[in-house]
Amino acid sequence: MSRKVSMKDIAKIAGVSPSTVSRVINKPSEVSEGLRKKVMKIIKELNYTPNSVAQGLRKGSMKVIGVVIPDITNPFFPAIVRGIEDFLRKKGYSLVLCNSDQDMEEEKKLLKFLYSKNVDGVIFTGSGEYNPEIEIFTSRNIPLVFLDRIYKKESSSYVIVDNVDGMFKLMTYLVKCGYKSFALLNGYKETFSAKARYEGFLKAVKKYNIKNYEVVFGRFTYESGYEMVEKLSKIPEVLVCGNDLIAYGVINKIEKLGLSIPDDVGVTGFDDIAFSKHYKPSLTTVRQPMYQIGKKAAELLFKMIELEKYKPKGIVLNPELVIRESTKKIEMEV
Ligand code: RIB
Repeated sequence: MSRKVSMKDIAKIAGVSPSTVSRVINKPSEVSEGLRKKVMKIIKELNYTPNSVAQGLRKGSMKVIGVVIPDITNPFFPAIVRGIEDFLRKKGYSLVLCNSDQDMEEEKKLLKFLYSKNVDGVIFTGSGEYNPEIEIFTSRNIPLVFLDRIYKKESSSYVIVDNVDGMFKLMTYLVKCGYKSFALLNGYKETFSAKARYEGFLKAVKKYNIKNYEVVFGRFTYESGYEMVEKLSKIPEVLVCGNDLIAYGVINKIEKLGLSIPDDVGVTGFDDIAFSKHYKPSLTTVRQPMYQIGKKAAELLFKMIELEKYKPKGIVLNPELVIRESTKKIEMEV
């Protein structure tokens, strides 16, 4: 089709009326999930964007940004939220902060809620699997930036760290320390960051010809760390945890088993949250530049809102290896 695609075109292909298409776009909660998916698929395939008159019917800018994260009680997120807020406040924007509790249904409700509040844009850290509700924003060109977690099928802006490289560097260090058997105790298997860390782990397994390893997926929480140790067939020489909270739970469990860290077993984290350098033992981990992640996501979102033709952009920040007491010292070069 060479002319601009209209709502009537979408309606015709979907075999529904234009008012139904309008409801799918403007009041998605009033149509069935099947119908919504069908119409949204056609909208995406034909690259349809509602015309400016329709968009103009939306209320004027409130200078409010929605931020969806899994859980603010994970100390990874407060520093990120500060980075977002410090930047956007200077630009005259306020935040509505929403916790999804890593729950897909809750996350869907939150996205619908933010849309109904007419926010100017959204910074989104998804809980795992693809959440189709984000199309409420992406199909209407309402600015959205992915933070920490990407959906590969969406081409919106994002800010992440190089998780694969961070995990690979950590594993290289552990191999140099002389560790021979490994277990990766990871976060939720569908989460982008957990998948990428798994990829970095496997890259090292291949490169260093590691034969003795085990992988368990759980949640990015203290409790899950504790439980994942119980799922192992045997305790390896080093436990590589998907994040610092998992590592805290693992340390607790390992000590309950009467083993000492790092003399009997090494433990590592990922994030370097504020307490990790004060933990007993202090934690060897991979530092994510949390404040910067938030600030960069806010900058991107701000540009998408204020500059009319701003193209989506991806930013990949570098994580940093932090060596502390929970692992033994280097024995050799590899
Ligand atoms: O869900 C929390 C985790 O996801 C964080 O700890 C961080 O590692 C992120 O990727």
